[in-house]
Parts: sequence; structure tokens; C-alpha cells
Amino acid sequence: MREIDDGIGIGNSNLFVRSPDNLLSDETYQSELSEATSGPKLSYRADLLASWASVVPDAEKGRGTPAWHRRVLVRLQGFMTICSSTLQIALLAIPGEDSSMFKGVLIENDDAGYRANLVNIDEAQLPEGDVSVKVAYTGLNYKDALAITGRGKIARQFPMVPGVDLVGIVQESLHPAYKPGDRVLLNGWGVGERHWGGMAQKARLKGDWLVPLPAQFSPKQAMAIGTAGYTAMLCVLALEKHGVAPDSGEIVVTGAAGGVGSVATAVLSKLGYSVVAVTGRPKEAEYVRALGAGEVLDRSEFDGPSRPLAKARWAGAIDVVGSHTLANICATTNYRGVVTACGMAGGMEFPASVAPFILRGITLVGIDSVMCPRSERLIAWERLGSDLDPTKLGLITSSIGLNEVIPTAERMLAGEIRGRVIVDVNEV
Ligand SMILES: NC(=O)c1ccc[n+]([C@@H]2O[C@H](COP(=O)([O-])OP(=O)(O)OC[C@H]3O[C@@H](n4cnc5c(N)ncnc54)[C@H](OP(=O)(O)O)[C@@H]3O)[C@@H](O)[C@H]2O)c1
Repeated sequence: MREIDDGIGIGNSNLFVRSPDNLLSDETYQSELSEATSGPKLSYRADLLASWASVVPDAEKGRGTPAWHRRVLVRLQGFMTICSSTLQIALLAIPGEDSSMFKGVLIENDDAGYRANLVNIDEAQLPEGDVSVKVAYTGLNYKDALAITGRGKIARQFPMVPGVDLVGIVQESLHPAYKPGDRVLLNGWGVGERHWGGMAQKARLKGDWLVPLPAQFSPKQAMAIGTAGYTAMLCVLALEKHGVAPDSGEIVVTGAAGGVGSVATAVLSKLGYSVVAVTGRPKEAEYVRALGAGEVLDRSEFDGPSRPLAKARWAGAIDVVGSHTLANICATTNYRGVVTACGMAGGMEFPASVAPFILRGITLVGIDSVMCPRSERLIAWERLGSDLDPTKLGLITSSIGLNEVIPTAERMLAGEIRGRVIVDVNEV
């Protein structure tokens, strides 16, 4: 005879009882044990069984035998199943976290003033659209920083969720091109300006605005590139379209330590161009060199009033600054050189002369990422897949949670942010 433990343990479903009152012969025990351990098993205290047995018909019949244990326990099991179902229904009925609510940055502008806050938003408040997306990441772009701080007239209606780009997973779709589970990407189309954008855990969008997430990129990598990187690629494509090639001469990139400038520098250098980076932050010189810039110039060489023409140096340019910087670049661009203008970090005005256009035949190409046709977007993303060294993305990117967006927007406008900022919207 042997005494067997009387503790409670959960394993499988064949039930057996051991206690000093219920000693089994070694033989019976071994056979029970082998039966019990060959299938699911649950052991528990036999003294409890004695009291539970009172709810079982014929409880005294064959008491203590293995058959009795089995009969009592199987009936108790049925009883507990009913209890368990009832408890589950009761649990569901308890008011809990409302799954229709999600977190987002909301810009409001009313009698109380212009303000952005991280708030709870009800799904019912989402704008119209044929695709609902569970957002994974958005990027903090210069335009988002202007919208959040109210320093630029970016948000055109209120309340507004900022975020001009996002990557996420389709949850519901009435659009023929997308189904639940698809990984999608969005840049521009007035999202974050006229239509609620990516700085929230959910978005409802027009399917026509979306592009499938390129296979080369993880969601995080796609947002590391984001609208800034995609715009940089549009600039590179424009240079190529206007005949600028790696052997044409030097390409100057302004705001090189920022989002557009960083990706532009990395892509151009991978393509074999000789890149001259312009930055106002000497401490970031090593960073832009690591991205592929062959030479780094100080911003101060460009931000004063420009002469109509100056010594020609650039075969091409990618300018994110505007104002005097753009005027100086045009004045120093080679005969038939090409300047792409995509930004206004230094100002909206363009205090230039027509001299570079009529005497050197330069081309000034405007770059707009927001309403760019879908076919060109697809090309830009495909080219990013082949022409951006993914190892440079780690260098370019920093990551923040949704709760850090508002203070980081201030830092971005103060020129303190390097490269791209990815926002993990599920980190709040
Ligand atoms: N056209 C489009 O579709 C499109 C798309 C995306 C972005 N953009 C525009 O492109 C610009 C850059 O965007 P981003 O995302 O790269 O912004 P960002 O990451 O903040 O970079 C902007 C960079 O510009 C430089 N900068 C800032 N203030 C300056 C000033 N007062 N004078 C001269 N340089 C200054 C800084 O670079 P350094 O520290 O290296 O000097 C800064 O890092 C913005 O104006 C944005 O609105 C346009």
C-alpha cells in the first residue's frame, strides 16, 4: 500500500483522488496512474470530494472505489461546466474597457484657443472613409510639428488628428483593393490637414489614398522613411528626369540633418552622386558624412541675401529650406543645372532673381508629395526599396510614443531633431 498526495493540481481531464482515506493497492494505483497520465489529469483533495459527492445520485454506491471516484467526478465536471459558462457570461456582462475607444492626439481650435492634447477618442468620431486601419506607426514630420504647435496653418478643420503619414493593418474595408489584414501605407492626400491622420491608434481613410506596404520594408522601416523620405525620393526622381546623373557634378542638399535631407543624402550617395550637405548644426557633420555626404558646409554660407548670379558649382540641388537659401542655390547652380524645391524650413518667400534661369538655363522643379499621383508614389517607394541602404535607417531614426509627440513637435521646430522621428501610436 502507498499513500498518495492529496494536493490539488491541474493537468489533464481524467480525474483521480488520493488521500489517507482512499488508499489504493499499488496495482490499482499504477493502473489508475497510467490511465490518468495517459490523458488529461486533474488531482484534488479527497476530503472535498466527500462533501461534493452529496450532490451526486447514488453517492454511497461503491464508495471509495475507482469507479465511484470516476462517477462522482464526471458528474461534478458537468456541474462545473454549467457554472463556468454562467461565469463567463457574467464576466462579459461586467462593464469593462470600451473597445470602440482609442488614444489619439487631437487638435482643437475654439473659444478656448488652439491646443493639441492626447485624448481618448470614440470610433464613432472617425471621419468617413471606406477603409478602417489599425495604425502601427506614424512619423513626426515638419508639417505635423507646425500643425500640433499651431505655428503653421496646416490643420484646415477642427477637431483634427494630425499625422500626414501612417502605416498599419486594414481592419475593415469596403474598397475592392483591400481586405482585413492587409498592411498599408499612407502619405499625404490632405490627411492630418483636412482628414484625420495617423497620430491615433485608429484611422478611417479612402482606400484610393493607400498603397500596399512594400515587401522590402517592415512597418517600422516604412515609417522611418515616411513622408520625408518619400519626398526625398521624389526629388531624386525629378533630378534624374531632368537629366542629372552621378557624373553631372555635385549635388547640394540643404537641411541635411533633417528628415528629407538625411534620406536624400543617403539615397544620392548610394546612387553614386557626390553630395555636399548643408547643415546649421556643426555637431551633426559626422552624422551627415556617415549618411554619405562627401563635404559638409555651414548653413550660414547660404542664408544671407543672394546676388543674381554667383560662382556656379551645383549640377543639382535638393532644397528643404526655401527663402534666401533657395535663392543662393539657384544663383550658384551650373549651366542647365536642376534645383528641386520641396520645403520652407527657412521661410516661404523666394527673394531671387531671374538671372540663373535666363542666363544659365537652370530648371527649378517644385516637389509636392501630398497630391502626387499614385503611379509616381509607387515608383518612389519601389526606388526607396532599391536605392536606400536599409542599414542607414537605424542611423536616421529615433522612436517615440504617442505621449511624447507634443513636446517633440516643439523640439522639431527648434531644429533640435536629427533625421526622422517614428511615433509608435500604441506606446502611450
Ligand atoms: N513638398 C512636400 O511635399 C514636402 C514633404 C515633406 C517635407 N516638406 C518640407 O520640407 C521641409 C523639411 O521637412 P523635414 O521633414 O525634413 O523637416 P525636419 O526634419 O525638421 O528638417 C528640416 C531641417 O531644415 C533645417 N532648418 C530648420 N530651420 C532652418 C532655418 N531657419 N534655416 C535653414 N535651415 C533650417 C534643419 O537642418 P540642419 O540642422 O541640417 O540645418 C532641419 O533639420 C519642411 O519645410 C517640410 O514642410 C515638404
